Amino acid sequence: MKKTFNLPRGTADILPEEAHRWQNLENTARKILARYGYQEIRTPIFEETELFTHSMGQTSDVVQKQMLTIKPQKAQDSNESTSFALRPEGTAAVVRSYIQNSLDKKENLSKLFYIGPMFRGERPQKGRLRQFNQIGVEAIGPESASPYLDAETIALSIDLLTAAGLKNSQLKINTIGTAEDKANFQTLLKRKLKPCLADLCEDCRDRFDRNVLRVLDCKNTSCKAVVKGLDITREWLSPESLRYFSTVKEALNALGIKYREAPDLVRGLDYYTQTVFEISDSSLGSQDALGAGGRYNNLVSELGGSAVDAVGFALGMERILLALEDETPAVSSVDLFIAALDETAIKLAFPILNELRRNGVAGEMGYRAASLKSQMRLANKLNARYVFILGEDEIKKGVVTIKNMATGDQKQESLTDPKKLAELLK
Ligand code: HAM
Repeated sequence: MKKTFNLPRGTADILPEEAHRWQNLENTARKILARYGYQEIRTPIFEETELFTHSMGQTSDVVQKQMLTIKPQKAQDSNESTSFALRPEGTAAVVRSYIQNSLDKKENLSKLFYIGPMFRGERPQKGRLRQFNQIGVEAIGPESASPYLDAETIALSIDLLTAAGLKNSQLKINTIGTAEDKANFQTLLKRKLKPCLADLCEDCRDRFDRNVLRVLDCKNTSCKAVVKGLDITREWLSPESLRYFSTVKEALNALGIKYREAPDLVRGLDYYTQTVFEISDSSLGSQDALGAGGRYNNLVSELGGSAVDAVGFALGMERILLALEDETPAVSSVDLFIAALDETAIKLAFPILNELRRNGVAGEMGYRAASLKSQMRLANKLNARYVFILGEDEIKKGVVTIKNMATGDQKQESLTDPKKLAELLK
């Protein structure tokens, strides 16, 4: 028996009957993103592994457990030993491109968006894949240093989800302050967590030493209970950071955006500073985050670029499509089906169909001689608006019988003028 092949675990085929949902989501997103002044950027789907370890943080779950790395076969004429990784997210790659292409010299604010696949070697489950797609935005440059841009970015993420058809998503926001504030928070958190170390999972006991903030993201029930009991307040934040966060909230209020403040929301990636946010949908179950983002004011300089601020987010497309209920099933249709009843008719119809397509008609034909009955069955399946019937009689008279499938009306037209036929179909 021949070996058959299955797709890799945690990936998915998107078949034609589903592809239209993806197209709708992408088209809607592109329209909204343009309104907010974002332009598309496309970066490779793999980059140097170090770009991700450096930006997302050695202790982040993504870097520790989920990187899908590629070992290129050593080129004979080079000693290339660089390790590459399939991109687990878009931010680091966009920042790399921003720096490499000196976008900071061209504009004070680069508003960039991307739509495409990301890769994480996670244990697959509903809403958690190894290849998944994100719609992401990154606003980078000196002009991005404003709390109004945090609010606008959050508003954009909500606008995208609403336009996609999601009305019940919940927004959580928090601030983690400057790098200095973050360091103070880490000290405070260690002090609070020390007496509870025995109740933490093994990973979190390790996180306590390596990057204590990660304990706040742990999904383990006993760790969650410990975190809940910590009574985290904002005493460690500088007055400037608090003021900044107040303006973000005021701006959100001015836009009528509803949010919940979540002092324990720190996000699993190291690059965040100041505002962070997450949008969830309870219908999704345990993987309920539709999207997330925040400010990352130090990442551009940490990756060797100028000291400019930035803010962004990414939405998970699979999760958006999962959360969308009221689906309208696809009703695709063609303008025309040509039922050519014998070999002579096929020979005649073939170039006519081609000419009609060039004149804007979406058309199909039966490529093998078959009875009118079976060709009409095909036309119905394709949801054709018109059928051209071409049999012996029609060929003799140099005409085609045109059937309007909605009304059942039939008439005959000359075959010699495809432009006129195309007009008739419009
Ligand atoms: P993230 O929270 O890692 O952030 O991912 C953003 C969204 O991608 C998640 O909320 C989720 O919807 C989706 N997602 C993540 N992992 C998976 C998975 N394995 N399967 C399905 N969907 C998934 C980032 O990626 C940051 N780069 C966001 C950002 C942009 N921050 C600033 N700019």
